[in-house]
Amino acid sequence: MTQPQLQIIVGSTRPGRRGLPIATWFHGLAVKHAGFDARLVDLAEVGLPLLDEPRPPQRGRYEHDHTRRWSETVRTGDAYVFVVPEYNHSYNAATKNALDYLAREWAGKPVAFVGYGGVAAGARAVQALLPVVASLGMVPLSGSVHIPFVRTSITPEGRFESAPGLDENATGVIDELLRLTTSLGAARTTPPVG
Ligand SMILES: Cc1cc2nc3c(=O)[nH]c(=O)nc-3n(C[C@H](O)[C@H](O)[C@H](O)COP(=O)(O)O)c2cc1C
Repeated sequence: MTQPQLQIIVGSTRPGRRGLPIATWFHGLAVKHAGFDARLVDLAEVGLPLLDEPRPPQRGRYEHDHTRRWSETVRTGDAYVFVVPEYNHSYNAATKNALDYLAREWAGKPVAFVGYGGVAAGARAVQALLPVVASLGMVPLSGSVHIPFVRTSITPEGRFESAPGLDENATGVIDELLRLTTSLGAARTTPPVG
């Protein structure tokens, strides 16, 4: 049987972003967990412009190739983890833009978050995302991963150094996400391509 596909979405597109080493760390744990076919999806590589579709996404009638490519990527995912920075007490614009591009591709699928930032550890970013993913019909996990003082957890070589207990926390989130993916999977129908 094929494994469900977990897409770990790197939300920050900034040069030198800390989100990439954090997402790489989480991806490594998901590969080790082995319950999912875990993929890294980097919004910097996806390279979406600010939403430029003439029609709202609900009917999936897309004009641009970049939207069709993004639709096809997201459509193949069974579950998502957004790795999101806290910017100005919320999450970053590239993440919102990537969410807004699509609709049915996200619907009915489970989602979890890895939030990071300063003292608030990305908590405000994740809280701000909850109503957005709910409006898209996604099913958020109650648990999430939070990384405070992120500046201090990246080595000079650019690797994320996990704090004690954090790997276990993240693996628990992957466990719970797999349970939710399995139970939702039976009820979910794959939307057609746009
Ligand atoms: C525009 C901007 C706004 C920020 N605002 C906050 C904030 O409100 N709270 C916080 O904890 N950190 C804030 N930070 C610090 C970021 O969380 C930190 O720099 C993090 O590394 C950004 O993620 P990135 O490196 O993956 O882009 C902000 C950073 C930027 C660039």
